[in-house]
Amino acid sequence: MKTLTITKPDDWHVHVRGGAILKAVLPHTARQFARAIIMPNLKPPVATVAQALAYRQEILAALPVGMGFTPLMTLYLTAATTLEEIRKAAECEHIHAFKLYPAGATTNSDLGVADIKTVYPLFAALERYDMPLLVHGEVTDEQCDIFDREKAFVDTHLSAIVANFPALRVVVEHATTTEAVQFVESASANVAATITPQHLLFNRNALLAGGIRPHYYCLPIIKREQHRLALVAVATSGNPKFFLGTDSAPHLTSLKETACGCAGCFSAHAALELYAEAFERAGALDRLEGFASLYGADFYRLSRNTGTVTLAKMAWRVPLAYGDEEVSITPLQAGEQLGWKML
Ligand code: DOR
Ligand code: ZN
Repeated sequence: MKTLTITKPDDWHVHVRGGAILKAVLPHTARQFARAIIMPNLKPPVATVAQALAYRQEILAALPVGMGFTPLMTLYLTAATTLEEIRKAAECEHIHAFKLYPAGATTNSDLGVADIKTVYPLFAALERYDMPLLVHGEVTDEQCDIFDREKAFVDTHLSAIVANFPALRVVVEHATTTEAVQFVESASANVAATITPQHLLFNRNALLAGGIRPHYYCLPIIKREQHRLALVAVATSGNPKFFLGTDSAPHLTSLKETACGCAGCFSAHAALELYAEAFERAGALDRLEGFASLYGADFYRLSRNTGTVTLAKMAWRVPLAYGDEEVSITPLQAGEQLGWKML
């Protein structure tokens, strides 16, 4: 049987939620990844060090016994974030970044930042403390076509942020367009990007052609084929500025399969398998380890993991749902056959 063994990977962008959903989804992430950057868009948002430490405890308590996993916490940047909170976060070993959501850009982002210029003093503090800024890079202008919102953000905001704060480490989260890729490629080594499995594997036909498929709906929305090709090219290029971030974002099936469904693809059940599929199709399985296990740790200035995981070329069918009667979550590729399986 064909197998692939790589250094144990990390997920540099994941939503694990809280309560019953946390308990249902966390074992999937903890089985595949040594560490993960935990998104702070809970209700209410994780906006202070105290909240992040309490959330960290909730995550650790939800881990199955004997499963090793390190949650890397982030704070939600709001117009009310103080310089004092940034100082505290910088001193806390468990906090690794701040997340910028433009207000209204996505799930639980209503407390995000409405006018990005007004938080420039906070960016200056992040730069001073060498604390990474993770960016949801989409404009929220209702006049802007949803497929153009990332490009518009790069042009209007990202270029200005990077130009004004050259020493600030910035991660363009879930890059989805040629324009975002080109921006990151041409920026300094302080600017990196994560890429999701769905944006590597699918274009917008998967969401809209032959019927509307809510489990392929996420934000930023999946784009045209030309953008997918640019993402695959850069993810498999060995460029260390691009690394794995699943953006696995579980919602109850009932909240996705409805007249106005939530944004987010749940991919934690098969994250590595999905990336392996994309890398194999590109003839670049040998580049998966750097993308999944090495470059993100280097960017965050954390040690690389020492363990390994092994994937086998082995067909299996993704279940139609995970969880139980109370918490039912439809995974990406539900009911479909995948070609790789993590052993
Ligand atoms: O599709 C998404 N879902 N995009 C985001 O930015 C947030 C996420 C969520 O929290 O559900
Ligand atoms: Zn996300």
